[in-house]
Amino acid sequence: MRILTGIQPSGQLHIGNYFGAIKPAVELQSRGDCTYFIADYHSMTSLTDAAQRRQNSLDVALDWLACGLDPQKSVLFRQSDVPEVCELMWILGTLTPMGLLERANSYKDKTAKGISPNFGLFAYPVLMAADILLYDANLVPVGRDQKQHVEMTRDIAVKFNHTYGDTFVVPEPEIRDETALVPGLDGQKMSKSYDNTLPIFGDEKALRKKIMGIVMDSRTPAEPKPDADKNIAIQLLKLLAPADVAAETERRLREGGLGYGDLKKALFEHYWTFFAPYRTKRAELAGNLDHVNAILKDGAERAKSTSSQVLGRARKACGLG
Ligand code: ADP
Ligand code: TRP
Repeated sequence: MRILTGIQPSGQLHIGNYFGAIKPAVELQSRGDCTYFIADYHSMTSLTDAAQRRQNSLDVALDWLACGLDPQKSVLFRQSDVPEVCELMWILGTLTPMGLLERANSYKDKTAKGISPNFGLFAYPVLMAADILLYDANLVPVGRDQKQHVEMTRDIAVKFNHTYGDTFVVPEPEIRDETALVPGLDGQKMSKSYDNTLPIFGDEKALRKKIMGIVMDSRTPAEPKPDADKNIAIQLLKLLAPADVAAETERRLREGGLGYGDLKKALFEHYWTFFAPYRTKRAELAGNLDHVNAILKDGAERAKSTSSQVLGRARKACGLG
């Protein structure tokens, strides 16, 4: 089985990225050949600061490695180190109906939020299809927000195979119910674009402040809260604390007697403890950037050995070259 996923270097990675994409991807390393990449071309649809992109890309590499990506087992590379993906994007774009792209939820959501759309944002699912098809991936672990993009990839692959003959593997998304949509500090989907995140790594004081600043209602600590399961801190605690601790905290909130301040303090403590070993690993890696750059270089070479074969197959099928 060939497993592939990508993360955009458009800002600091957050626990939605961790539970929705990184953790499942790390666990899948025992189930097949894994290819994981830093989607720096994708980040151009929202970020136009070159130095920031370079820094973020390195940070995402550090985050992946700190959270358990094993470069002996898996390929880790920067998307733009294999620019052939842009050629495949063009090829696939010629078979992609406008209507399919107009129905993309992420495009609709971003434009509805007032982000002014460029061609790149509109064409983004075609680049994502090229990412997936270029490596013959069968399984794509993602959060629920990306499901539609993987379905579009399937449609595009089927259309290509139908038009030019069997060329591409048709991939499946892998979405875990329990972490499909991690809520942000404001209750919407946690996202780098919505300024509602809890970063995986960052300064302790700032993160404590962010958690203590989660807005809750004005009910007193003593009041029972029958809707305790809807509380954002409880939902996040279920991901970060041992199951029995999360269940007991939820029970205390539901029955009354647990104040929001104490709840938020507990959330911070569990969050901080959960990521402690990854923080240590990340600090070690950050002290040896030559090693990290060597991993990315080796990853790009390994990625190219697959992509050149698949692109060759696609070019031949459609009569190019
Ligand atoms: P963002 O929305 O913060 O920009 P990306 O689009 O770069 O995040 O997402 C990278 C990966 O993390 C994708 O697989 C995506 O589905 C997953 N992901 C992002 N936000 C969440 C979330 N709130 N819950 C679950 N998974 C998420
Ligand atoms: N679009 C994805 C996101 O924003 C990132 C991504 C780019 C990706 N190419 C991919 C994910 C290919 C899976 C497979 O989350």
